[in-house]
Amino acid sequence: MEKLLKKSNQDLLTAAACVQKKAYAPYSSFQVGAALLAEDGCIYSGCNVENAAYPLGQCAEAGAIADMVKAGNRKIKKIMIMSPTDESCPPCGGCRQKIQEFSDPDTEILMADQTGNASSITMSELLPFAFELDK
Ligand code: THU
Repeated sequence: MEKLLKKSNQDLLTAAACVQKKAYAPYSSFQVGAALLAEDGCIYSGCNVENAAYPLGQCAEAGAIADMVKAGNRKIKKIMIMSPTDESCPPCGGCRQKIQEFSDPDTEILMADQTGNASSITMSELLPFAFELDK
């Protein structure tokens, strides 16, 4: 049963590719999709949303995290980030800290290029020596 219910990396890839198409990126033309598997076994997703006031733009990862939090979840098991190019799109520095907030050291970060080829690293590899406060 556990196996049947388990969301595969392919499911994450499909969700990330789907939401990537909705990205609002008229300034950079760099559309990013992010999909994450939360503790409840569901997939949550987000895309980047840019703004004419450039610093106000929001990354795809932030949208996926907000989607997860509004559903009552607090833990990311794995997150897939889909790049619009042949190079993968490693999360920016700010997004590393945002993912860290809802991760364990062994949370998986999957980075896919536009063809779907993905590499994987852990949260502790992505952001060693992260800033944390007691909750
Ligand atoms: N972007 C993301 O959505 N996630 C990242 O981790 C890196 C960058 C977006 C922000 C901006 O809309 C566009 O990609 C170009 O930087």
